[in-house]
Amino acid sequence: MIELSVNGKSFSYDGDEDMPLLWFIRENAELTGTKYGCGIGQCGACTVHIDGEAVRSCTIPMAEAKDADIKTIESISDGEKLHFVQRAWIEEDVPQCGYCQSGQIMATVKFLEEFPNPTNEDINNYHTNICRCGSYEEMRRAIHLAAKLKSEGAA
Ligand code: FES
Ligand code: FES
Repeated sequence: MIELSVNGKSFSYDGDEDMPLLWFIRENAELTGTKYGCGIGQCGACTVHIDGEAVRSCTIPMAEAKDADIKTIESISDGEKLHFVQRAWIEEDVPQCGYCQSGQIMATVKFLEEFPNPTNEDINNYHTNICRCGSYEEMRRAIHLAAKLKSEGAA
């Protein structure tokens, strides 16, 4: 039996331990903000946080999620109050089709912990989620704005 927590809620799982965590998040926990893109760890559409690390959940088998604390896009706002990265995304009008964006935002939340004052080069090198709509310029602006909001104490 695998026990895990998703967005603070406890779950038990006794199915196939090779099943990707992404399937569990979408099908068992019914949290569909996290998206399936490539399925091979390349695009980042499935990015969630496990024990505080940003990971691509399509590559994590359930066996590795044992006792894990998982956070998805649904967890980062506080009721009506959006997370500062979400606010920056809206301000810079980032999403086009929107499909990749929950993964982009989850990757950005973690990225800004490691790079609180990122350069464009940092973003290009370490923010590697793919957007098939090509919203990279808007994302770069939103990441800089989010860094500014964070430095001003936004939560
Ligand atoms: S769906 Fe997981 S990285 Fe693309
Ligand atoms: S906004 Fe369409 S894939 Fe990124």
